[in-house]
Parts: sequence; structure tokens; C-alpha cells
Amino acid sequence: MQDKTHLVDEITGHRRMRRNRKADWTRRLVQENRLTVDDLIWPIFLIPGTGVVDPIPAMPGVNRMTVDKAVEAAKEAADLGIPAIATFPNIEMHLRDETGSNSLEANNLINQTTAAIKKAVPNVGIITDVALDPFTSHGHDGILRGAEIVNDETVDQICRAAVMQADAGADIIAPSEMMDGRIGAIRRALDAAGHQSVGLMSYATKFASGFYGPYREAISTGGLLKGDKNSYYINPANGTEAVRDAAMDVEEGADMLMVKPGLPYLDICWRLKEAFGLPTFAYQVSGEYTQIKAAAMNGWIDGERVMMETLLCFKRAGCDGILTYFAPEVARILAKR
Ligand code: PBG
Repeated sequence: MQDKTHLVDEITGHRRMRRNRKADWTRRLVQENRLTVDDLIWPIFLIPGTGVVDPIPAMPGVNRMTVDKAVEAAKEAADLGIPAIATFPNIEMHLRDETGSNSLEANNLINQTTAAIKKAVPNVGIITDVALDPFTSHGHDGILRGAEIVNDETVDQICRAAVMQADAGADIIAPSEMMDGRIGAIRRALDAAGHQSVGLMSYATKFASGFYGPYREAISTGGLLKGDKNSYYINPANGTEAVRDAAMDVEEGADMLMVKPGLPYLDICWRLKEAFGLPTFAYQVSGEYTQIKAAAMNGWIDGERVMMETLLCFKRAGCDGILTYFAPEVARILAKR
């Protein structure tokens, strides 16, 4: 028993927040959010050929993979219990052109990979993007006419690409190019082609961000990009506009929403989840990955701890899952717990 009254007693009364924090067992008992392997989507990078795993300098630990190696990665995902992978192709330069016509080749790198993975590992979900940036000679996500990224023509093209991706076996189409009306248009195109069960995960709120830098190195679009993407991605200053953009996608038939980048935009994650209640995902993008890796490699932060903390924070912010390059690393850690 304390005989002396402290000043703090007057302030707290009987309220003591630290009671629930006093031991490991209480902390476990009151923990509100948990990260599990079921929350992870693993983005992987593709290159043509066979037998090659090519490290990406700006993303230590992340590689570009040929189709056969991507199939091995999908097997690894299945073994680890990771529900889904998302594929991003590095298209050969000679196949890139003004309109991104290789996106309409039924047997292009994305579709080849999807078909190979579906055949070998049918129980891993495959999420594909229809943005044109890997295919265009100017690095933009849509068709460039003069100085303008033309909306409606781009949507017509990505609808056709989406149907081809679904034909190849994609389970979810995740359009990231931020054209207006694309969710409704892709939904109609998929349904007309008999792909009613193929889902749409909208990159509903994709911000014009500096955090995409290492990704552009990974798929070799950085050096190509003419100008910026500010006429189609959202201004990082705007939260209400992001909610309105997501509302359109919800009305048009999105099955899931995504916020991109992740950690600097947790307020958006929370607002979308509260407003719509749809399954909501965050994309912890390349620059976020690289920040953590680089600081950890310098011994300046505990990389594993920060990695796990950031992913848990997405859950607290209302996310149902996270696209993260850390996925296999995290899955291995979670399996040991
Ligand atoms: C473009 C696209 C981007 C990313 C994936 N698809 C952004 C961009 O290059 O403008 C970024 C992913 C990442 O940084 O991890 N459609």
C-alpha cells in the first residue's frame, strides 16, 4: 500500500491505462488488430525468357522473374499461404509504342505468365493491372494524343486488355490508370465476355506520388516518362476528392478498393472503409519498401520490426489487406509465431 498520495492520483482517479499493458498476457488479451498471412498480396515483376532472376538495384531483395521463375514464386506463395499475387511486366523496349499495342496481344508477357501460373498453381489468386505504362514508349498509363492522355479511347483499349487478361485466367482485374468511367466499362466488357466471376479491385485512390520511383526502375518506365501523371492521378493534398473518386468506382461496380501509396495515406484508408464498407486494400509501394530496406541496411532502424509495425498499422487503419513486396518475408515470420 502506498501511504503517500501523489499529485498524479488526483489527476487519474482510479483510471490507469497501464493496467492493461502490464504483462505480455494482458497485452495479448487486449490487442485489437492482428496481421495474418491472409492479409497479404505479393506483387511480382516479370521479364521475358526462362531461368532468370534479375535483382532490382533500388529494391534490395526484390527481383524481376521470367515466367518459369514466376511460377516458382507462385508455388512459394501457395506453400506460405499467401492468398494472391499481383503481376507487373517489364516489357521489352522494342515492343513498346505510342498506344501500348502489346497490351492487346493475347500471348503477351502478363497473359503468358497468368496462364502458366494458373496451370501449375490454380489455388493462388492472380491480380493483373491493365494500365498501359509498361507498354507505352512514353511511360504514361494511357494513350497520349498531343499533350493529352485521352480518357475514353484509353478506356476502350483497357477494356479489351482486361477481357484478354481474364481469358488467360486472371481472377481479379486491378486497373491502376485512373481514367474516369473505367470500372463500369470494364465490368460491362467482362460480363459481355462471360467473365462474371472475375472481380474488380479498383485503384480508386491513386495519388500522384514520389514513392513510385523504384517501381519505375523495376519496369524500366522511369527514363521514358514524358512530363508527369498529375492530370490523372490524385493530388496528395486532397482527401475529399479521393473519397468522391472512390464513390464513383463503388457505384460503377468495384468489388474491392485500393489506396496507393499506403502509409502516408492511412487517413484515406480509414475514410474509404468507413464510407463504403467494401474490402479495402493498401498498396505499400516500392518507395515505402525501399525506405525501410535502405535504413535497415544502414543499421539505422530495425528493419523487421518496422516492416511488421507498418503492416499492422494498415490493419488498424481499416484495411482488409496489403499489397507488399515484403509478403514472402512476412509470411515466413508469421509462420514461426
Ligand atoms: C502505374 C503503376 C505505378 C505503380 C504500379 N503501377 C505507378 C507509376 O509508375 O506511376 C507503382 C507501384 C510501386 O511503386 O510499387 N500504372
